[in-house]
Amino acid sequence: MYRSRSGTELDRYAFKFLSSISEDSVILHYDILGSEAHCIMLYEVGFLTLADLKKILQALDEVKINSRVLDTDDYEDIHESIEAFVIKDAGNDSGGKMHTARSRNDQVILDIRMKVRDDINDICNAIIDLINSLLEKANENKETVMPMYTHLQQAQIGTFSHFLLSYGDALFRDMDRLYVLYGRINKSPLGACAIGGSSISIDRMKTAVLLGFDGLIKNSVDATSSRDSFIEFASALSILMITLSRMAEDFIIWSTFEFGYIDVADKYSSTSSAMPQKKNPDVLELIRAKAALMTGNLVAMLSTVKSLPSGYNRDLQDLKPTLWKMSTTTLESLKIMNGLVKSLYIHREKMLEAARNSYAISFDIAEQLVVQMGIPFRSAHKVVGALVEKAVSKNNIAFTMLQKEDVEAVLNNIKSSLQAEELMQIIREMTPIRSLELRISSGSPNPKEQDTAISFSYRKLAGYREGVSKRKRCIAAAFDNLGKSTKNYLNAKTSS
Ligand code: ARG
Repeated sequence: MYRSRSGTELDRYAFKFLSSISEDSVILHYDILGSEAHCIMLYEVGFLTLADLKKILQALDEVKINSRVLDTDDYEDIHESIEAFVIKDAGNDSGGKMHTARSRNDQVILDIRMKVRDDINDICNAIIDLINSLLEKANENKETVMPMYTHLQQAQIGTFSHFLLSYGDALFRDMDRLYVLYGRINKSPLGACAIGGSSISIDRMKTAVLLGFDGLIKNSVDATSSRDSFIEFASALSILMITLSRMAEDFIIWSTFEFGYIDVADKYSSTSSAMPQKKNPDVLELIRAKAALMTGNLVAMLSTVKSLPSGYNRDLQDLKPTLWKMSTTTLESLKIMNGLVKSLYIHREKMLEAARNSYAISFDIAEQLVVQMGIPFRSAHKVVGALVEKAVSKNNIAFTMLQKEDVEAVLNNIKSSLQAEELMQIIREMTPIRSLELRISSGSPNPKEQDTAISFSYRKLAGYREGVSKRKRCIAAAFDNLGKSTKNYLNAKTSS
């Protein structure tokens, strides 16, 4: 349709190669809304007659009702296909005016902005749901004692809720990146035209408001050439998926028979064709794998735009399916993770047993030596280290099983002036629960700290929930208004 200069038809393979029609189905709906707003604006600035506008809106309405009226075989993208239909339906005298003061270059980025704007809201809502489930589970597990790990080796005593809250905090940041980005995405590029604006007195703010945008991407080169905000989106999603992959990995490890801390519900577990005993955490493994694909996609997007000259270049078309895929993958992963967290079974006794049999209490004992005996931490570290060595040499027995002679031997050996009885008293009192009560520093797994963190997070969550729903309401109100204007124009009486 656009081959005004060249008389020759495009080679069929080249045509297929160029086509973005399959991925454009995702933006069909936005493209129609954009055209409605654009034509209403063209009418209001006096560029279309009411009769033209009505015919165009009528044709667009037909596409809305049944998109199968579109010929998607002979046009290279959805913009061309819709315009061709409008011209066929409304006649060239009216329909041929729809593309006045517009180009596919500002049109496509308008559609992408509307789509990503919705995606951000949907993804934020899915994150909110997941954080909510984490907070609920954390609330039930404030006193679920378990060992914490560094280098995957037992480190300190902690609680299960502390881990859940740590995922929640990371997810808050993941959400905030998207939440802030929304402000950059929610600006209208429409009216930038091909690259340099138009000589027709279009009203860019009018279309922006009709489409629920919060302002303009002003510079016409910037509006049509830049994709930085979408790369930021892809990057925020990749980072979010990395958070999910950490959760996935922790859950995979803790659900092994050897750990046995948690059980993934049957409805989220896979079986084996050969081994009847198997219950595999495949969905978690796939989340892990998808986090890798996201990283790859992000790098692909960065590489695609690197060194592109200013102005629209067809390379940009290839960003679309990658973006769509990244949104879908993220949304699916968040939903799966939410269901999985909600239905997670926690083996509290198993966790407690692991904590009880653990030398992860060592740090707390050393700190009590500092607090109660007033010795330097470095000396306390030495005493407890020697104690661990002794317990390990006696077949990994618990500290509480050490005899007085053992403790005396340890102290003599390192020339410590501590009394065995004093040390044994500290050890006896240092149950896992006690160690948590003593851990009073801000942000520690102390049960009171957990309480504060949970109620703070719930309040924070309510703020984001309200913010996202306000944004959704703004978009819905704008589209509602656009729908009413469209209807009014369709029903308006033309003078002739
Ligand atoms: N299908 C194109 C895309 O997705 C639309 C813009 C085409 N513009 C152009 N000048 N060829 O990016």
